[in-house]
Amino acid sequence: MEGFILDKIGNTPLVKLQKINPFKNVEIWVKLEFMNPSGSIKDRIVNHIINDAEKNGLLKPGGTIVENTSGNTGAAAAMIGAIKGYKVILTMPDKVSIEKQNALKAFGAEIVVTPTSALPDDPLHYVNTAKRIAAETPNSFRINQYDNPLNPEAHYLSTGPEIWQQTNGRVTHFVAAGSTGGTISGISKYLKEQNPNVFSFMPDPFGSIFYNYFRTGEINLDGSCSYFVEGVGEDHLTKAMNFEMVNDMIQFNDENAFSTARRLAREEGIIGGGTGGANVWAALQLASRLTEPAVIVTVIPDNGAKYLSKMYNDEWMKEKGFSL
Ligand SMILES: Cc1ncc(COP(=O)(O)O)c(C=O)c1O
Repeated sequence: MEGFILDKIGNTPLVKLQKINPFKNVEIWVKLEFMNPSGSIKDRIVNHIINDAEKNGLLKPGGTIVENTSGNTGAAAAMIGAIKGYKVILTMPDKVSIEKQNALKAFGAEIVVTPTSALPDDPLHYVNTAKRIAAETPNSFRINQYDNPLNPEAHYLSTGPEIWQQTNGRVTHFVAAGSTGGTISGISKYLKEQNPNVFSFMPDPFGSIFYNYFRTGEINLDGSCSYFVEGVGEDHLTKAMNFEMVNDMIQFNDENAFSTARRLAREEGIIGGGTGGANVWAALQLASRLTEPAVIVTVIPDNGAKYLSKMYNDEWMKEKGFSL
């Protein structure tokens, strides 16, 4: 279909940091995933998963897409549902801001808000609520991004090849923090198949279980996820995350992520979310350790407009004790 919006997913720009990278021998390139139609990298995986569900008869005309998410995956599902004429039901805990709920409703999605206090084994928990709605709704389809192998596959088939082509095969290091793990696992797999020496580096917020699991193979039960950066780190392992694709990890805190995101906006003109800040912070840490020339690539997963009342709000930053 000529000019079809869903054909505009992917093929995002890759731009080179001009000012905040002080390392002369190392190039740092960032892939602007907020330029996808719904404003994040998640358009790629939701589009891939919905196309596959249609092809395999798991989602039929007039069907309903269900997912437990308040964030970028919800926005992608809501947008794609609007375009293709599916009903979309998204469940989320009541801590999710009204702006975020309204952003999903703007695409016509139905929102089911559950108590934040419901524990994971409570039927009222938002994940269990999504599972129940999917089970009760005829012709419904759950995206299941955490455990769906099509999530890393979407990156293996699109983001990875784009990075390889856009760098003319010069990429030496790839950096991405993870939540489902689809981004780091799928892109790294593709890049390592082209050049086994490509080094994958994964930042993880203090409070997530991934770093400790990578170092020790154990799940640290203190993984409380009590940080402010939204969209990375986890309190459980996911099937989309493949640690065999990761060469090394580093831990970061909110200050690292937010201060770098704010510098990206002020010095490079790139207004992304906190995870883009964390990725660039980690890329700079990696660059500081390198002695040979290198080409580091990372991603800016989503749009800073989603955080104007938080990390781009000086009052909020001061109240939380972060530097401006
Ligand atoms: C803002 C943001 N950054 C990064 C990620 C991590 O991507 P992935 O789930 O592919 O690991 C997500 C995913 O939820 C996200 O919403």
